[in-house]
Amino acid sequence: MDLEYRNRRVLIIGGSYGIGEATAHLALAEGAEVAIASRSEDNLAAAASRMEAALGRRPQTIVADVTQPGSAEELAGRVSDLWGGLDVLVSAVGGSIRSAFAELSDEDWLGNYTFNVLSTVRAIRAHLPLLTSGEAPAVVMLGAAASKMPYAHQIVSNVHKAGLLGLSKTLASEFAPLGIRVNLVAPGRTLTPLWTNRADKIAAEEGRRRPGDQCRRRDRSRPALRRE
Ligand SMILES: NC(=O)c1ccc[n+]([C@@H]2O[C@H](COP(=O)([O-])OP(=O)(O)OC[C@H]3O[C@@H](n4cnc5c(N)ncnc54)[C@H](OP(=O)(O)O)[C@@H]3O)[C@@H](O)[C@H]2O)c1
Repeated sequence: MDLEYRNRRVLIIGGSYGIGEATAHLALAEGAEVAIASRSEDNLAAAASRMEAALGRRPQTIVADVTQPGSAEELAGRVSDLWGGLDVLVSAVGGSIRSAFAELSDEDWLGNYTFNVLSTVRAIRAHLPLLTSGEAPAVVMLGAAASKMPYAHQIVSNVHKAGLLGLSKTLASEFAPLGIRVNLVAPGRTLTPLWTNRADKIAAEEGRRRPGDQCRRRDRSRPALRRE
């Protein structure tokens, strides 16, 4: 199937592993020009090498920590130098804190807001001038199924992913006259490092190993829920 991505310029923030890497892999396989961004040069290089080994093509890599003020503008500057415009922006950065409500501080709330919502807002704002000159431009942000069906003990991301849903729907109408499509993808549990790291921590708390070590039973005197 031709998804009509040939030669389209696609930036994937959070593209060094997980859902972002899988998205970059698919876009590259479809013939798009792809750049992946994340905090780690090593992770980016490893992802680029995996794609090159599988597809014979390598994405551009850009180091950026999108939770830091000014980083989205720097990233947009690099994309502008690279391509002069942008057709697809994917923001695949985000996550949760597994915690009971009473244990969460203001810093936890604000930090997770920056991680999930503000990083996405900043990325879209910084890349808007590049997208307006793009061809059939599109913004895709990663929310979560939890924005509509909240997960227990993940209240911060339940709230913030619902915020992203509001952001995507509002921008979809605000950007429609500019010809920019806006979508939010809302995955359920997906086997990525985000999920396996969490599963490892839960298993460790319960004195087990992932997957399937049935020998040791959880000590019921310990709380079932701890802060990650
Ligand atoms: N996996 C699931 O079950 C699931 C379920 C629902 C929703 N989601 C959502 O889907 C999105 C992707 O999830 P995932 O499972 O693929 O996550 P992941 O495995 O943790 O991957 C996250 C990606 O973001 C990068 N990243 C993290 N912090 C960053 C920062 N401050 N600046 C720039 N890059 C950063 C990571 O690379 P570096 O470490 O190299 O920076 C990595 O490339 C997230 O928004 C998540 O909330 C995932």
